[in-house]
Amino acid sequence: MAINEGKARSMRVLTGIATTGAPHLGNYAGAIRPAIDMSLHAEVRSFYFLADYHAMVKIHDAQAMQQALLEVAASWLALGLDTDRSIFYRQSDIPEIMELNWLLLCVTPKGLLNRAHAYKAIVADNSKRTKQRDIDYAVTMGLYGYPVLMAADILMFNADRVPVGRDQLQHLEMTRDIAQNFNRLYGEAFVLPQAEIIEQVAVLAGLDGRKMSKSYRNTIPLFADCDQLRKLIMKIETNSLPPGAPKDTESCTLFQIYRAFATKSETAAMAARYREGIAWGEMKNELFEYIDATIAPSRIEYAKWKASPDTIYNILNNGAQRAREISVPFMAQLRTLAGIDGGKTYV
Ligand code: TRP
Repeated sequence: MAINEGKARSMRVLTGIATTGAPHLGNYAGAIRPAIDMSLHAEVRSFYFLADYHAMVKIHDAQAMQQALLEVAASWLALGLDTDRSIFYRQSDIPEIMELNWLLLCVTPKGLLNRAHAYKAIVADNSKRTKQRDIDYAVTMGLYGYPVLMAADILMFNADRVPVGRDQLQHLEMTRDIAQNFNRLYGEAFVLPQAEIIEQVAVLAGLDGRKMSKSYRNTIPLFADCDQLRKLIMKIETNSLPPGAPKDTESCTLFQIYRAFATKSETAAMAARYREGIAWGEMKNELFEYIDATIAPSRIEYAKWKASPDTIYNILNNGAQRAREISVPFMAQLRTLAGIDGGKTYV
């Protein structure tokens, strides 16, 4: 049992999204929707936050930072996040997270971070370039330390469950490792969090069939307007099978996206149409109509929220206040454990 907890404790669910730009369909299906669903269970305490410190790894422009933050916040609010039930805050409003980040850095082996997928991918890429002698070219300490900051986000609130896309699984494993290191050295401060992966939709494919990701520029923005949504869906790559030829569902991006939005029975019915050889043009239309109908009401809400940033900041300030009711006393306990409490426990 962690040091800041009584015996009866409701399950804590926590997740964040890096505020690197307006969310896309993959973010919605893989993270936002399951998180909002979970927040509606009365017995769960949910923490949702805007990971703006994480966004700084990629964005080095103040205005772009502000805009992305508002777009992500407006999206969650438009989709119906209940900010009374859940605690919705901005990471950078909680200074204790950054303080905990340092405590965790000091118990994190450098080798652990060397094995992080995102870091290894850059190193692999640099090693392939013959002209690039520095394998760490373009790697900042922010990027390198990203998993530790993520551990601080999670451990600060002793989250039990963390809904994330499959690509974040390694980060959760690292969080557990880091928490165990701290616990071993200083006492049982942290619970070990579990990732909650939503199998069906965790990683949605994008326009070109690769994982939908801002880094691949293959995303469909969640709140694209009707025309833009139609255009993007028409661009999704398919094979060249003619109308009437039976088609495979599993390898098909259109089907995957459809499945992430439709009910089980609608998905089964669509699978039957694939076997009967639905034409790609027809399928694209079906997909567009389905997503558009699902998103349209929230699109109006999104526009309203975006037009009132002051309301958004008020909500976030309120969330930060509630989050700090937990983080401030917990951080004080952690400081005592680590021997940096300014002599408060000196005898
Ligand atoms: N890395 C996550 C993403 O890319 C964002 C994130 C930051 C996060 N801190 C977190 C997710 C803590 C879950 C828990 O979207």
